[in-house]
Amino acid sequence: MPSTEPSPVPGSTSASLDAVPWLEGGEGWTGHNALIRRDRLAFARLVADAARPLSRVRTPFADVVAVGTPETAHEVLVERASDFMKSAMLRFVLYPLGGDGLFTSDGELWKRQRKLMAPLFHPGALTTYAEDMVACTERTISSWRDGDEFPIFRETTRITMSIAGKTLFDADTFSEADDIGAALTEALDWTASQAGAPFAIAHLTTARMLQKLSDRAPAALKGKLEAASLRLRMPLFLPGKEGQSLRRALDRLDAHVQHMIDDRRSSPARNDLLARLLNAHDDDLGRMSDKQLRDEVLTLFVAGHETTATGLAWTVDLLCRNPEWYARVREEVDALGHRPTLEDLPRLAVCLRVFKEALRIHPPVYFFGRTAQRDTVVGNVQIPRFTNMVILPWALHRHPRVWPDPERFDPDRFLAANESARHRSAWLPFGAGPRVCIGNHFALMEGPLVLATMFRDHDFELLMRDEPEPFATLRPKKGVPVQVRKRVRKAN
Ligand code: HEM
Repeated sequence: MPSTEPSPVPGSTSASLDAVPWLEGGEGWTGHNALIRRDRLAFARLVADAARPLSRVRTPFADVVAVGTPETAHEVLVERASDFMKSAMLRFVLYPLGGDGLFTSDGELWKRQRKLMAPLFHPGALTTYAEDMVACTERTISSWRDGDEFPIFRETTRITMSIAGKTLFDADTFSEADDIGAALTEALDWTASQAGAPFAIAHLTTARMLQKLSDRAPAALKGKLEAASLRLRMPLFLPGKEGQSLRRALDRLDAHVQHMIDDRRSSPARNDLLARLLNAHDDDLGRMSDKQLRDEVLTLFVAGHETTATGLAWTVDLLCRNPEWYARVREEVDALGHRPTLEDLPRLAVCLRVFKEALRIHPPVYFFGRTAQRDTVVGNVQIPRFTNMVILPWALHRHPRVWPDPERFDPDRFLAANESARHRSAWLPFGAGPRVCIGNHFALMEGPLVLATMFRDHDFELLMRDEPEPFATLRPKKGVPVQVRKRVRKAN
């Protein structure tokens, strides 16, 4: 479909939001909200098919705009990043899990915490993690027997969870991985079910109204209205049976996190991530409360393994369905002739391309968003304050101008020459701009090392075709069931 550029407002060079075309469908009073709640990928498909810079989304209570090209995504995430905050809806539904951690916080708090953690995620600092990444993978796969059948997502979760625990917090989560995984699924289920639900809409609509009132209120009332509005941007309580299960899941997760913190408090001083967070009590950044510490640790632990586990499971699925690429991965891994190490990363170029292409086809964070905190302009259109901008990597990764034959698995899209020919925001599995994933280099190192370790000694056969489940992340519905075979390696 051709791009539709809205016409300018008279007297201004930018057009009004009213001129932006509506996304197809979304009839009835709930508009697209019903579809978003029922089938988020079907909604993403509408945005992908429209393939235009901006499309208006029909929802009952707020202005929502879907961003459909790399150029407009770049404007929102990079060029005009300071005009936006994290999506009010996503922050609301992620709050019980992530609290005011790095993923969900905004403003000065976010700036301070990002500055504190960034050095630990710098590519140079990550080199010390390579050995742990391989060792944690070996530990998990050592339990695989020839002929075993299992969902590979369960195993990639065990692997990435133990890597996140070990590298970030020097914690051994291996024996508890399944219990933590179940609690996390429970918590993410709540997140997915509440996005766009009446409970969340009621909170956020009231918060917006109070904020608007406070803008015009006399000084004496302003502070009170603002505080009330802020308070409503997170759940005041957790309703119903789902709320009770969430509470139980959070208790289990909190207990694990507390255990990690207590463990590290009693061990010798080190300069890892947890030590840095703990020591922030003493330095000029100010004290970090126990609640803030919990929020940061849980955020990093969850964000640091769930997404990578999902990406790795999809990589195995796609390789099994593309024998030519499966053979190339094996060839590359066999050519190493030893267990992978940090120094081998440049020789794992096929593993890296394959992982990147899996993140394109099935981006684990398949949607995220921003809320305008002031009036701004995107794609030459006026975006009023409080407008919600939806960014869908799943749709952007299928834009016909950028990705020919988008459903085809073609890791050569990530050859250096092809990468540099594309728009910087064409591939967005990690987002972009100041809020880009802090763990992106970590994940792009972990992906190839884990794949190389898995494929070195094992072969995988797909037992059935899987499909994506638009959960909080884009998990495979059945976890990608495979049969695993021990490989007989030629001596070299
Ligand atoms: C394949 C793996 C991963 C994917 C697809 C992924 C995806 C993303 C995306 C899309 C965002 C930005 C969301 C937004 O702009 O609203 C993000 C942020 C974040 N990610 Fe990742 N991530 C991955 C791995 C990791 C790892 C390994 C870690 C930590 C070790 C991590 C920690 C975080 C944190 C803390 C943020 C918030 C950053 C901030 O706002 O300053 N992620 N991630």
